[in-house]
Amino acid sequence: MSKDAEDLAGLKIPGHVAVIMDGNGRWAEKQGQPRTFGHAVGSQVVEEMVEVASDAGIKYFTVYAFSTENWKRSEEEVSVLFSLFAEYLQKLIVKSTKNNVRCLVIGDRGPLKKDLIDVIEELEEKTADNTGLTFTIAINYGGRDEITRAVRKIAAEVSEGKLGPEEITEDTISDRLDTAGLPDPDLLIRTGGEERISNYLPWQLAYTEFYFTDISWPEFNRDELVKAIIKYNGRDRRFGGVK
Ligand code: FPP
Repeated sequence: MSKDAEDLAGLKIPGHVAVIMDGNGRWAEKQGQPRTFGHAVGSQVVEEMVEVASDAGIKYFTVYAFSTENWKRSEEEVSVLFSLFAEYLQKLIVKSTKNNVRCLVIGDRGPLKKDLIDVIEELEEKTADNTGLTFTIAINYGGRDEITRAVRKIAAEVSEGKLGPEEITEDTISDRLDTAGLPDPDLLIRTGGEERISNYLPWQLAYTEFYFTDISWPEFNRDELVKAIIKYNGRDRRFGGVK
């Protein structure tokens, strides 16, 4: 066994890990750098962590890159973030093809620029048949917005007579969310010291284990992921039942 894999030996690996990559701005400011420097380093950490997650045996890895509320940030910060997304997604097409990673983007694409939507579509199409890790990036994503859009779809189906109100089940809702087809996360990691979900996957996180760390996203690495997985292994998941 490689030394790298030793620390995970015998551990139960969460199938789906979702991450709130917080603390980029504060980390950068602490070293006298602009906030956007934190996002640039954070972007490199995302790139590394996709490989680490895949090597660790994680099947689904989902990151919160931009929320529906993040438009409130300065024009400069928003613009740097979107340049990083465009650059990163373009690179991801090549890398994911090589590494057998399937990529998805969730969130409302409506307000995104056409160039970015084109890259997203190309990324999803070119990696659709890859059978390794499924890597999902949330861009202009808000959980309440996602549920609202799903409810609109259901309302339209009901009004067209395709669906009866009594036929609506939890699966009807799950299947109309952006995450349709993905399993719910087993583990949520939030870096940066805050302990809240900030409108991230509120429907999907119903039975997820939460792990909060003071480490900022730009400082996150394989060792920190291993710590989170060890904590996860100490949790007793009963899903509302009794063991
Ligand atoms: C939260 O940290 C982070 C974001 C709003 C952006 C996340 C983006 C990245 C990690 C980089 C690019 C991502 C991809 C997928 C290429 P914050 O800025 O709110 O930190 P703060 O709480 O210290 O201000």
